[in-house]
Amino acid sequence: MRLEAEQGFVSGQQLCDEYQVSRTAVWKAMKTLQTEGYEIEAINNRGYRLVKKPDLETAPVVAKKLTTRFWGHPVYFFDEVDSTNNVIKLLAEGFSVSQTTQGMQVEGEVWAAKAREGTLAIAEYQSAGKGRRGRHWEGEKGVNIYMSFLLRPEIQPENASMLTLILAMAGRKAVEEVTGLPSLIKWPNDLVVNGKKICGMLTEMSAEMDEVHYIVAGIGINVNEKTFAPELKDKATSLSLELGRDVPRSDVIAAYGRAFEEYYEKFLQTQDMSLLIEEYNQCLVNMDRGVRVLEPQNEYSGVSLGINAQGELLVRRDDTKDVVAVRSGEVSVRGIYGYV
Ligand code: ATP
Ligand code: BTN
Repeated sequence: MRLEAEQGFVSGQQLCDEYQVSRTAVWKAMKTLQTEGYEIEAINNRGYRLVKKPDLETAPVVAKKLTTRFWGHPVYFFDEVDSTNNVIKLLAEGFSVSQTTQGMQVEGEVWAAKAREGTLAIAEYQSAGKGRRGRHWEGEKGVNIYMSFLLRPEIQPENASMLTLILAMAGRKAVEEVTGLPSLIKWPNDLVVNGKKICGMLTEMSAEMDEVHYIVAGIGINVNEKTFAPELKDKATSLSLELGRDVPRSDVIAAYGRAFEEYYEKFLQTQDMSLLIEEYNQCLVNMDRGVRVLEPQNEYSGVSLGINAQGELLVRRDDTKDVVAVRSGEVSVRGIYGYV
């Protein structure tokens, strides 16, 4: 590639002349290279500069392993971003996002086409990874999966929270397919192995009263991390810690995409969990177990009876003996003795 031969910038005009193509063709070629994991700095009046070739494990390998219909097409790779959810939000709104030596750069104007469903962003590191309700998602660089993708489902906004359950089902299937490790889902959005959290999901939505504009689905999977911060040590684990060997992240990503498409299709058929309830409840860590429901203004204990077709967790309250349907959102569910 021409940029590899050059330490500094090569102007767009130079590239047009050398390859006998238009400026638009050069710009498109740069975009394609970026989606393949090349970090290219683009500066007005100076041209293009190759900053870094793709990470061998993730970028080109992931692109080759994807066998999905729409998931991961296109896929963008980043060395470092604040949060991959934020990247997908920008792409969904039509901003152009590129990688620079300083991290991510967002072009000021809305000038690219709005990203399409399935667009995926993967980062080696997140400087401000987000969990639910303003919490942080932590993780080392280059060993885990931090990824987000864009959905544009034609569903009612009130049904969107069920997508979190779909994300968790896909995570469970991918982990099992690649590693053989049986994981369980802690309602609504955590994946747990041996009582510890291995994977978290965060969905964010842009919607009006009766229309979803888009949904950002973010997944963090602890893959090859060996040590966790003291406050996470008892609660978090990784695939490699559980297996005693490293796992290729690209395999997990590709398996995730396949599984997600399968479950998403079933969800869209009914716009609820009715085709998936049974499978979900089979992998529910809280099934038939004592739980403590933590609502913002209210706390109570009960026995979890699994989800209903709306994805709500049915809980028989210890105090009133009533069965109540708990909606995700502002609620946390804990085991009686700890996290699960
Ligand atoms: P709930 O969603 O039921 O409230 P939770 O405590 O897991 O459960 P979340 O908001 O889902 O809360 O997840 C964010 C929390 O996950 C953080 O507060 C932190 O405790 C934990 N966490 C952060 N990074 C990781 C990680 N890499 N692996 C596992 N857990 C993590
Ligand atoms: C949780 O368990 O609270 C959700 C954690 C979600 C973490 C992922 S990592 C990729 C994506 N980007 C983010 O900032 N968060 C999600």
